[in-house]
Amino acid sequence: MASSNGRRIGILVLIALAVAIGAASMSNGTAPATATSSQRTGGDAPAQKQGLWKDTYFPNATVISHDGRAFRFYDDLIKNKIVVVNFIYSSCSNICPLVTARLSQVKDVLGDHVGRDVFFYSITIDPVLDGPDVLKTYADTYRAGPGWMFLTGAPHDIDLIRHKLGERSRSKAEHRNDVKIGNDRTGEWSRDSAFSDIEVLAETILRMDPEYRKARRNPGTLLQANTSYDLQSTPGAGLFAKACSGCHTLGHGDLVGPDLQGVTERRKPEWLRRFLMEPDKMRAEQDPLAVDLDSLYPGARMPNLGLSNSDTEDLLVYLSAGSVFNHDPVASD
Ligand code: HEC
Repeated sequence: MASSNGRRIGILVLIALAVAIGAASMSNGTAPATATSSQRTGGDAPAQKQGLWKDTYFPNATVISHDGRAFRFYDDLIKNKIVVVNFIYSSCSNICPLVTARLSQVKDVLGDHVGRDVFFYSITIDPVLDGPDVLKTYADTYRAGPGWMFLTGAPHDIDLIRHKLGERSRSKAEHRNDVKIGNDRTGEWSRDSAFSDIEVLAETILRMDPEYRKARRNPGTLLQANTSYDLQSTPGAGLFAKACSGCHTLGHGDLVGPDLQGVTERRKPEWLRRFLMEPDKMRAEQDPLAVDLDSLYPGARMPNLGLSNSDTEDLLVYLSAGSVFNHDPVASD
């Protein structure tokens, strides 16, 4: 057990980095960005949480959704709502697709809360390249559905919004991969990692609602977990759950990428091993199969997740175990 944990270095380093970058100053009840008092339009001492970061804090700039509709950022999208916000750009080839895939899993767990009392916004940090049509493809790929919008806008406005939400990196590649969770009504904002356990993250989002907290005093039993991963069953299973299951199933059909049931039989071992470790390089080298797969799944690309050799071996064992360890709780009684 310990040894299999110890071997999962590559992806864990990547995930830990993303978490560390995001883990800066945000916690429940504090500002979404570490604003100095001069940046606050109100300038008052934070005596009350209530309303502190409301309309005076967030810009009311116009943003455009992936289906081409225009919204005022604060009035239409944030005001009085519980929101989950992350930043992406469509040409990002490693970690934003993974974060988006995990948000899509969180959305599935939250079910019809999304669009009713919780709203997801994925905002591009590359508004010049990512117009509504590009974002529409992205949204479809990750099964966005009602209550989850991909947003773009004028570069100046998007900059303003992302700065206010604590996303201030200078280059796209170093942008934060955390998710911001806020309840504008109570003024509570927090920052979380998309690599937290999916159910825990879903629960954290629901707990932004004081009514929900009151109604469910006993944490831990709140959401019926609809997926359960036996982390010990095979070394690659935990890693698959964290890093792959947002985009792939084993035996339950295509998701963002192909169903991986039987993949260890349909591909040569050397090809598969290399594809897991450096799919981007193989595409760049025009590997025929990598290019074919890319065109079959136009909305997304298999990301380079920084897997180590031992991560990859663990995953290959897991993938070849295939149907035995599929993730359907109904099937595994
Ligand atoms: C953000 C989505 C995403 C994530 C995360 C992801 N993949 Fe993929 N994967 C894809 C897409 C899309 C393809 C299809 C090829 C392409 O478009 O590049 C693919 C292709 C593959 C293939 C080739 C399938 C075949 O039929 O040959 C394998 C194997 C694979 N992925 C394994 C994994 C594993 C293992 C993980 C986790 C470590 C993972 N993927 C994580 C999106 C993803």
